[in-house]
Amino acid sequence: MRLLKLSLVVLMVLAVVAPIAAAQDMGEGLTIGFSQVGSESAWRTAFTEAVQAEAEARGINLLFSDAQQSQENQIAAMRAWLAQGDVDAIIIAPVIESGWDDVLQEAQDAGVPVIIVDRNVDSDPSLFVTRVSSDFVHEGRLAASWLVQATSGECNIVELQGTVGSAAATDRQTGFNEVIALFPGMQIIRSETGNFVRTEGKAVMESFLNSEDPANICAVWAHNDDMAIGAIEAIKEAGLQPGKDILIVSVDSIPDIYDALDAGETNATVELSPFMGGPAFDAVVATLNGEELPKWIPVSGKLYTTRAAYDADHQ
Ligand code: AHR
Repeated sequence: MRLLKLSLVVLMVLAVVAPIAAAQDMGEGLTIGFSQVGSESAWRTAFTEAVQAEAEARGINLLFSDAQQSQENQIAAMRAWLAQGDVDAIIIAPVIESGWDDVLQEAQDAGVPVIIVDRNVDSDPSLFVTRVSSDFVHEGRLAASWLVQATSGECNIVELQGTVGSAAATDRQTGFNEVIALFPGMQIIRSETGNFVRTEGKAVMESFLNSEDPANICAVWAHNDDMAIGAIEAIKEAGLQPGKDILIVSVDSIPDIYDALDAGETNATVELSPFMGGPAFDAVVATLNGEELPKWIPVSGKLYTTRAAYDADHQ
């Protein structure tokens, strides 16, 4: 009888303690600063919303700072959080790769762990806990491989680059160029930045169409979907059929690109998952619990040429 009573007490204690422990494992009650690049693209907005929703679901107090594409703003936000001493951790989605050493060192000196999400930094990895991101080089390789197949290795390409100095632009370019270098008939004939922004992608594509014989342009390689959509508008306004007269491949997998795929106005997109908040928060909890983490937590994505294929993978 005594044993039965004791067992009941243990079960009751567990019933109270286990959910508290589970909530703590999710980060409940933590205050985390999140410095986001800005809102340059539909993907970025989806990423912001996904991080905010994840924080809310976990009971995390998220201090959100929109850097409006400025690294200075990101560093200022980090320094303000460190000075106030009210954050348990900081998550940054860096605008560009270089220039982070000092502020990362300051965070480390203050004992505040930093998690990098999405774009990379070129600092020593000892200055941050981990990075949660896709493999941008792989995305570029996937895009180029699709284009090689679609054109049998013969294509004059115009490239719409992302933000200069950002890992997403640099690495996608590296991966794409690695693959086309294997095919003598594939070359980049024009390349300029559109900063990952739809209107800028359109303006750059207009300049390409004005300075090149459009018949000489086989394909657009856009570092993101928003610039691809800008290019689609420019190609249509030039009296050509995007997706047919000029092929288009890009990265992100945003809803608008599937409308364009449905309309036959673009050809392929590489998925970039916006759901990096969960693994980033898990990393914060793990590091605060003293766990060692790998320096890279990868997030995968595939190349899609139809909405049906995307939907089949995301039911
Ligand atoms: O860093 C990822 C890139 O940033 C996305 O591909 C682009 O849409 C965003 O601006």
